[in-house]
Amino acid sequence: MRLKHGSRKAAVKSLVILISGRGSNMRALLDASLPCRVAAVISNRADAPGLEIAREQGIATRIVAHRDYPDRESFDTALAAAIDAHQPDIVALAGFMRILTPRFAEYYRGRLINIHPSLLPAYGGLDTHARALKDGVKIHGCTVHFVTGDLDHGPIIIQAAVPVLEGDTPATLAARVLREEHRIYPQAVRWLCAGSLSLDQAGRVHLNHVEQPGFALVAPGLE
Ligand code: GAR
Repeated sequence: MRLKHGSRKAAVKSLVILISGRGSNMRALLDASLPCRVAAVISNRADAPGLEIAREQGIATRIVAHRDYPDRESFDTALAAAIDAHQPDIVALAGFMRILTPRFAEYYRGRLINIHPSLLPAYGGLDTHARALKDGVKIHGCTVHFVTGDLDHGPIIIQAAVPVLEGDTPATLAARVLREEHRIYPQAVRWLCAGSLSLDQAGRVHLNHVEQPGFALVAPGLE
């Protein structure tokens, strides 16, 4: 289409999503009508159920099986080649359960994001809900952050907090947190697509968004 003089349109950004399993966060991104193109979904596991969801939606899928590579460096090199084949502006880890090398994180600096099921910097790593319950915390949640060489850390973009309820099990708490994951991850990607979110050289997050919540989550509730 020919654009009228002076009406140059900004190019639509593209996104590659990396998964390892169920793919519910991937689905939340696919269902969010984001203002960007999902170029591909890549999994390190051929049996990841999320791959089928992506295929059903007509998204290109690719498997880069970590077991086919002798070490993290060679796996990350192959993974980067698979990602770069799509020249994405944004790479979103959505339940991608491999530790990435600092070199990989640095290469995608500012355009690689992750969702983690805790209020970072608390509870990086695995079994976040069981560990939170064991510690007796009253507020738990999830975090979207830029990925750095530091596992499950890196500049925070957005977080959602949920109350921990009497009688919670890791499964009930996980479900409450997951509902919030599905709200905040599309929001973070939407900001990136729109160009309103960035990471500066000093590692600070910049967001052109002024809406500030005016309330506190208190758990258990006050009488
Ligand atoms: C999600 O809870 C995500 O936050 C977590 O894995 C789950 C994947 O579920 N990611 C991590 O723990 C990363 N450290 P999904 O495949 O249904 O999106």
